[in-house]
Amino acid sequence: MIAANWKMHKTTSETREYITEFLPLVKDVSDVEIVLAPPFTSLAIAAKFLKGSNVKLAAQDVYWEEKGAFTGEISPLMLKDVECSYVIIGHSERRQYFGETDQTVNRKIKAALKAGLGVILCIGETLQERESNRTFEVLKRQITEGLKDINTDALVVAYEPVWAIGTGKTATPEQAQEAHQFIRTELKAIFGNEADNIRILYGGSVKPDNIASLMVKDDVDGALVGGASLKPDSFSAIVKFQGGDS
Ligand code: PGA
Repeated sequence: MIAANWKMHKTTSETREYITEFLPLVKDVSDVEIVLAPPFTSLAIAAKFLKGSNVKLAAQDVYWEEKGAFTGEISPLMLKDVECSYVIIGHSERRQYFGETDQTVNRKIKAALKAGLGVILCIGETLQERESNRTFEVLKRQITEGLKDINTDALVVAYEPVWAIGTGKTATPEQAQEAHQFIRTELKAIFGNEADNIRILYGGSVKPDNIASLMVKDDVDGALVGGASLKPDSFSAIVKFQGGDS
């Protein structure tokens, strides 16, 4: 899976222009699940223009209630209604700026799965946590608390070291593999061997020129791309990286 996280970028007309340009560039790709995550306001128009294509739609967040007096929030059913296949949950920017915790992540995952949405759970350590040798401890906590009482492996996990997001400082393929292997082991402790089927994406300054070296690693099953997904040509180059077999 290669997924584009647009974050807070693109109006509806920019979304339409992007998709019109992007689809022909990836129309022959069949060995990668391609996903676009535009902001909420662009989901409906994106769904319309992606219809019948090989590109799926994701939202960037969700609330856990089905409906009610929750001003500003969006429910899993509303995302299904605009034909989202996936929802990103627990992105580090939500954890950092909007008070997301492992507990809210857990509630959101349960609600999304119940509504039939695929979940892309984001985890990752900050620079300070890495430098104080707490990377594995943080990842373990984010996995065990985030996935508490969840008994389906219908999940995608994105490992996004916070220090690599939007900084141009990509994790080395070895650092990514080391973390992904650890994550796989933790997922196995929860889901048993089924965890081999869970895709673990790498995210953090993925670019056309570093995607191949990351994807070559055993436990790197895809990528979550921010900045480099905002232009159809660079995102399609990432999707079509040489040696693509996932
Ligand atoms: P980036 O963002 O590719 O701009 O580093 C990745 C992400 O936050 O998902």
